[in-house]
Amino acid sequence: MTSKPFISPCKFVASFTAVKLPKNSICIVDARLKKIIPKGFLRNRSIYWVQAGERLKALKGLSGHYSKILKIAQKHQRSGLTLVAIGGGSVGDFAGFVASTLFRGVALVHIPSTWLAAVDSAHGGKTALNVEGVKNQIGTYYFAQQVLLVETLLKGQPRARSQEAYFEFLKMALLSSRPWGKAFLRNASSESKFLWKSLKFAIQEKNSIVKKDPFEKKGIRHFLNFGHTLGHAVESGYKLPHGVAVGYGLDFALWWSIHRGYLAPKSGGIMREVLGMNLSKKVMSVSHLMSLLVKDKKKTSLGSLNFVFLKAHGSPLLKEVRVSEMRAALHRYFR
Ligand SMILES: NC(=O)c1ccc[n+]([C@@H]2O[C@H](COP(=O)([O-])OP(=O)(O)OC[C@H]3O[C@@H](n4cnc5c(N)ncnc54)[C@H](O)[C@@H]3O)[C@@H](O)[C@H]2O)c1
Repeated sequence: MTSKPFISPCKFVASFTAVKLPKNSICIVDARLKKIIPKGFLRNRSIYWVQAGERLKALKGLSGHYSKILKIAQKHQRSGLTLVAIGGGSVGDFAGFVASTLFRGVALVHIPSTWLAAVDSAHGGKTALNVEGVKNQIGTYYFAQQVLLVETLLKGQPRARSQEAYFEFLKMALLSSRPWGKAFLRNASSESKFLWKSLKFAIQEKNSIVKKDPFEKKGIRHFLNFGHTLGHAVESGYKLPHGVAVGYGLDFALWWSIHRGYLAPKSGGIMREVLGMNLSKKVMSVSHLMSLLVKDKKKTSLGSLNFVFLKAHGSPLLKEVRVSEMRAALHRYFR
């Protein structure tokens, strides 16, 4: 396996038949996939089954997981050991953290099973755990040696999952200055066939941003939070799936970019139209959203937060905005 710094090489395969894993590997697998992954693939492998979700990422449960994984690891050679994460973003975050710490770091391979993991969380090297219910408080940067994208696994997901992930794809398309970004908007669809075709380009976009600022020190990687500042508040405040909440966050970010004069109303309008095709109207409480928003980690200091605007297709802009400005903008947006 080759590896460029900070970029995990991707391999696109039609089915599990084409997946070849290192012999000395332990797979950490979402138990929901037991009936989805072909039995032949699972046979004779070391597997640690997990229940996907935020509880898996809880720091509290970690010691128990390490004990069980270490027991499995006794049957393996430490040298050259690989952990293979098979699941969505929660399994990837958990397995990535374990891989980065087990025996001071073993190799990591991701086989994402959700669109969200395939387009986003399996790339970029972030691992994360939750502390006392607060998301992603602890983590490491640990880049996978490879990301394997299995067509049958991703396309086999329920329709609702591709509708949710569509907004993360759209985010990458809006951030992209490559021809793909504009083509995605022209043909936008949440059909899994379309997402599969777009996956390679969306990943390239994420990787090109990560490469310039792998450890989030220069403000460039922050562009990936486009739509997420409000999105996270909407997600926790209205119990919406992450992707859908990001959709609402993107619409507000585009609207605010136009109102601040950064983004031309005509192109911003077209972007909002494409977004709106998959987003139903929702009334939200500004004070509820603001109370959640100031708790978010993107707050830079007590009275301000980082916000990603868009100047043009493929041209994001990071600004520090006062909390009071954000509140006023939200009032106008929801009016
Ligand atoms: N590390 C990063 O850069 C990064 C980026 C974005 C999100 N995340 C994290 O990712 C997590 C969310 O990701 P997710 O939505 O993939 O979550 P998830 O892993 O919790 O999966 C969501 C649900 O889908 C099910 N599922 C998984 N694969 C399936 C399949 N093929 N068919 C049917 N059901 C399937 C799971 O069992 C689970 O119930 C969050 O914890 C978030 O913090 C991390």
